[in-house]
Amino acid sequence: MTERHGKDSETLELRARISTLEQLLDVYERSVMEQSDRLYEEQERIRFQKTLLESQGEASLDGILSVGVDGTILFANRRLSEMWGMSPPAVGTKSIDRVLRAIGERSGDSEGFLERSSGDEDGEESRREISLSDGRTFEQYTAPIRSREGKNLGRVWQFRDISAFKEIDRVKDEFISAVSHELRTPLTSIRGSMDLMAGGVMGELPSEAMALLKVGQKNCDRLVRIINDVLDIQKIEAGRMEFSFGVIALEDVMAESVAAIQPYGERLGVALQLESSAPGVRVRADPDRLMQVMDNLLSNAAKFSPAGGTVEVKLASRGHFARVRVEDRGPGIAPDFQGRVFEKFSQGSAQPPRDRTGSGLGLNIARAIVERMQGSIGFRPRPGGGTVFYFDLPVWRDSQHAEPAR
Ligand SMILES: Nc1ncnc2c1ncn2[C@@H]1O[C@H](COP(=O)(O)OP(=O)(O)OP(=O)(O)O)[C@@H](O)[C@H]1O
Ligand SMILES: [Mg+2]
Repeated sequence: MTERHGKDSETLELRARISTLEQLLDVYERSVMEQSDRLYEEQERIRFQKTLLESQGEASLDGILSVGVDGTILFANRRLSEMWGMSPPAVGTKSIDRVLRAIGERSGDSEGFLERSSGDEDGEESRREISLSDGRTFEQYTAPIRSREGKNLGRVWQFRDISAFKEIDRVKDEFISAVSHELRTPLTSIRGSMDLMAGGVMGELPSEAMALLKVGQKNCDRLVRIINDVLDIQKIEAGRMEFSFGVIALEDVMAESVAAIQPYGERLGVALQLESSAPGVRVRADPDRLMQVMDNLLSNAAKFSPAGGTVEVKLASRGHFARVRVEDRGPGIAPDFQGRVFEKFSQGSAQPPRDRTGSGLGLNIARAIVERMQGSIGFRPRPGGGTVFYFDLPVWRDSQHAEPAR
């Protein structure tokens, strides 16, 4: 009886254990199923992302190439091989050297391209233009591929064919240049005729006619000035502005500029004062171009000055540089305009009180000229009101063996 009882309880216990194990197995099975479902979904999501990225890459009008740190091609779209006329790079292979060599050869700069590209390995992003021997121009953008933690995972290159933009730009420049030149000739002739009339070739003119003629002359000059400025800007942008450098005494050019602008100052009731604490300081510059810079700074200062005001022109030496300052007591330059003062065609909202002519080109040209002479230009508010425009030019030392001064 006891033995039988013992066996029964053993069986019961075994059954209970089996049932528990079955339950556990059930839970485990369900969890594995859930996990595998999740894994499947995740795989599907990654596959979708990959397809999406690849189709976006393929849809791009730019050629795209991405490479891992070990030189394995991660992605290359069809446009890349079309643009460079090469067989499509094999994704997953370490063929980056072959691809870069092919690109380098086609850009007519095989070694330079490879060198610069490998030099870019850990470098930051960069953008530059590449001129191909077949006349096309590409813009190349390259940047490192970084993980969220900032680890370097490789590099991406993007090439954009900008030949059409370049061509439009060239045609636009040619057009402006041709129109400007065409305008200048008849304008010179109009000005000549008006000068003759004002000089009395038709006999003495009634004072009303004379006044009208003066308006005509003034506006003719203004148009010629704007055309010349536009042509100058074009020359600067095309790197074709000519300079005739010589070693010159800066104070002489300043005195000449002040004298030239004096009549304009008188008309506006503004006095010009020249002060120098560095007489005899010399610079290597083109005196006519320097006059152009001075002319704009002085005319700006005069036209923004109140009637009865004074413009001070100062020359000082600061170490290796000579500094020219033009100080006015005008309205100053509004903070929201300060970042655009040197941009072309930019004019602030403050209106000059009497002379409202101007096209916003003067300072853009002045900056280009000063920079061509290894100098820099800037401005700051004048304590007590007004603005100080200044430019620095490297001082010329005799030990530099110059060509003789002009
Ligand atoms: N001394 C100054 N005081 C106040 N504002 C100035 C001064 N100089 C320049 N500016 C501001 O900067 C703008 C650009 O000057 P910039 O000399 O380039 O053009 P502009 O004098 O208007 O025309 P342009 O010089 O082509 O005849 C001016 O229109 C004016 O708003
Ligand atoms: Mg000006």
